[in-house]
Amino acid sequence: MDKLLIRGGRSLQGQVDISGAKNAALPELCAALLTADPVELHNVPRLQDVSTMLKLIRNMGVAVQQGDDGCVRIDASGLSTPEAPYELVKTMRASVLALGPLLARFGEATVSLPGGCAIGSRPVDQHIKGLQAMGAEIVVEHGYIIARLPQGRTRLQGARITTDMVTVTGTENLLMAATLAEGETVLENAAQEPEVTDLVEMLIAMGAQIEGQGTSRIRIQGVDRLHGGTHTVVADRIEAGTFLCAVAATGGEALLRHARADHLDAVIEKLRDAGVQVEAAQGGLRVRSPGGAQLRAQGFRTTEYPGFPTDMQAQFMALNTVAQGTATVTETIFENRYMHVNELLRLGARIQVDGRVAVTEGAARLSGATVMATDLRASASLVIAGLVAEGETVVDRIYHLDRGYDCMEAKLRGLGADIERIR
Ligand code: UD1
Repeated sequence: MDKLLIRGGRSLQGQVDISGAKNAALPELCAALLTADPVELHNVPRLQDVSTMLKLIRNMGVAVQQGDDGCVRIDASGLSTPEAPYELVKTMRASVLALGPLLARFGEATVSLPGGCAIGSRPVDQHIKGLQAMGAEIVVEHGYIIARLPQGRTRLQGARITTDMVTVTGTENLLMAATLAEGETVLENAAQEPEVTDLVEMLIAMGAQIEGQGTSRIRIQGVDRLHGGTHTVVADRIEAGTFLCAVAATGGEALLRHARADHLDAVIEKLRDAGVQVEAAQGGLRVRSPGGAQLRAQGFRTTEYPGFPTDMQAQFMALNTVAQGTATVTETIFENRYMHVNELLRLGARIQVDGRVAVTEGAARLSGATVMATDLRASASLVIAGLVAEGETVVDRIYHLDRGYDCMEAKLRGLGADIERIR
């Protein structure tokens, strides 16, 4: 299993390219299943979850060509097996995003239940409930969601759906299903994340009729068929936010090319309050920081977009541990998203967790140690801490990091970090 060896203490300087967003690319690869025409996606990040998704759709009989330039061509005309098996779904929950498109185009789909994951139970009941409201007959048997249209029906029916909570992949699944349904679907309490909006832009380019993306009410007029199209995946705001925190913690100055300030308002505001300079620059975001010890720790609550993203909680907490002062973080989206805390403690951080609340006592002098990555964003927070810590930090089990970051250590090395992969 690969590890990262980090020798901390260097400030980060220079320029880095922010890749396409993992959480946009994954639903967009599934959106290509909605049509028999070829679809071309650009700026697809090179990471493990994308490889898993490509494996999943190839397994259905879809032709996929992946270039070195981030371009993926998908031809789902020969899709013969509308199924997502457990072996693939268990490694990536986002596989459930195949459910809506398969059901809408083929009238049937069999998708493994994703089950729990390290950060909580993460059910998909809202996906199922929404598709049932659109007329699907769904049973859960032997660990699989088996969905089909009632006898004699060839299309889902438009419906008015209010999800119990804001769910990102739930919104995406229902949205994709609704594009081919008969009549109008209205999604209330819809997720407003930029990745949802990016998916809608792709669907519109394929001939879908959708309005209201980026708000909590999305309206979809179903059409008979979608055609092929070309789309460029939006920049990854979480990768950009991770680099912002890394530069902030280590001190230094960097240009994050392609990063979008308008997708990171909540994080940028906290960084500015901490004492970091962040400005929109031509073609990206410029960040300048005097280093963690000169910053003021900031409290925050994770909420749905446009609030502070849960996917940035761990990275910002690593920054808080080295900044001055006490800060209170409340995680409201997932019930168990503090696994990075025990590992940060091993590096010398001072953090107390009580349920969903974590209090950091700042100004810790972190010292290198061996730590273990437990999920994707937790891994990123350990890398940030390792970049600041004195001496050597080894981050073990970085397959979590590889799931969601495109060449992270190479990008950090490009900014001057002393970091290497040990195979
Ligand atoms: C997506 C992101 C993930 C991010 C999360 C929250 C992708 C591929 N993943 O995950 O990186 O951390 O949004 O921003 O885009 N819930 C239910 N029932 C459901 C659906 C959700 O109870 O049917 C609950 C979840 O357990 C969680 C909350 O709703 O507590 C939000 O989850 P959701 O937005 O669905 O997260 P994902 O879409 O899985």
